Amino acid sequence: MNRLFQASVINNEKLVKDHYLLTLHPLEKIKKPKPGNFFMVAVNKGLDPLLRRPISIHRWLDGDFQLLYRVAGKGTSILSRNKPGDILEILGPLGRGFPLNIKSENIILVAGGLGIAPIFALAESLAGKNLSLFYGARTKTEVLCTRELNTIGVDPVISTDDGSLGGKDNIVNVLKRHVTRNPSLVTDHVLYACGPGPMLKALSMFAIKYKLKGHIALEQNMACGLGTCLGCVVKTSKGYKRVCKEGPVFSIEEIVW
Ligand SMILES: Cc1cc2nc3c(=O)[nH]c(=O)nc-3n(C[C@H](O)[C@H](O)[C@H](O)COP(=O)(O)OP(=O)(O)OC[C@H]3O[C@@H](n4cnc5c(N)ncnc54)[C@H](O)[C@@H]3O)c2cc1C
Ligand code: FES
Repeated sequence: MNRLFQASVINNEKLVKDHYLLTLHPLEKIKKPKPGNFFMVAVNKGLDPLLRRPISIHRWLDGDFQLLYRVAGKGTSILSRNKPGDILEILGPLGRGFPLNIKSENIILVAGGLGIAPIFALAESLAGKNLSLFYGARTKTEVLCTRELNTIGVDPVISTDDGSLGGKDNIVNVLKRHVTRNPSLVTDHVLYACGPGPMLKALSMFAIKYKLKGHIALEQNMACGLGTCLGCVVKTSKGYKRVCKEGPVFSIEEIVW
């Protein structure tokens, strides 16, 4: 199946300042993405910017799909100006997603900021299992998808950097406190996470200490998204690996921080 395709914009809804939900209709049949897979999106038809931007699958809607993104710089700013009917050229789905075929019924999910985009996709795929979501954001307006999470039976523990919603702390500390109070919270649990690098590092140290197995989705600047430019490598216990090809999802103990 061709991985380069065109998709028309159905909607590009501004949710809150700098945060958008983009709904796309592929003009040909594409492979169904797994949670943790991503697309390389050409943000407009021109040559500037030249490089596509990596964005995770957020929701699969029977052939149409949604991306949840934050305006971080030039590329995503241009993306936010696309209107219904505009056509985008997209490569994907790419990368290795979260493993879904897991025996454990007890899952801890951790999302930091826009890490909720793939973590929501994962929660939807794992609905029916015992899911505990720890979700940290900068401020309450940036806490997204709570209604949709509730509809799949997930009631997140929330913290914000400014304390405007939930505890005023980073979400890894919140999880640590939960586990210190109740160590059985992590027995027979699997951990999945996506968020900023420092959060994933702190979380990985914690998971290793508590012998908690699981997977994290990394973000890295990407040029090709296809494994050829080597611009996205990270150090792992088995040598350098490409986030776009062998990742973005890695097992927790694999990454050398
Ligand atoms: C596998 C993967 C999945 C991603 N999924 C999402 C998603 O679902 N939603 C979302 O909002 N963002 C996601 N990102 C991050 C997104 O790709 C960047 O925010 C985007 O490429 C920035 O492009 P820009 O032109 O707007 O900003 P630029 O002008 O290129 O950069 C602005 C700032 O963003 C930083 N940045 C640039 N590229 C990345 C990157 N790849 N990762 C982290 N920081 C970056 C730069 O260092 C700079 O500080 C993902 C990144 C990866 C690698
Ligand atoms: S982005 Fe080119 S190898 Fe990963």
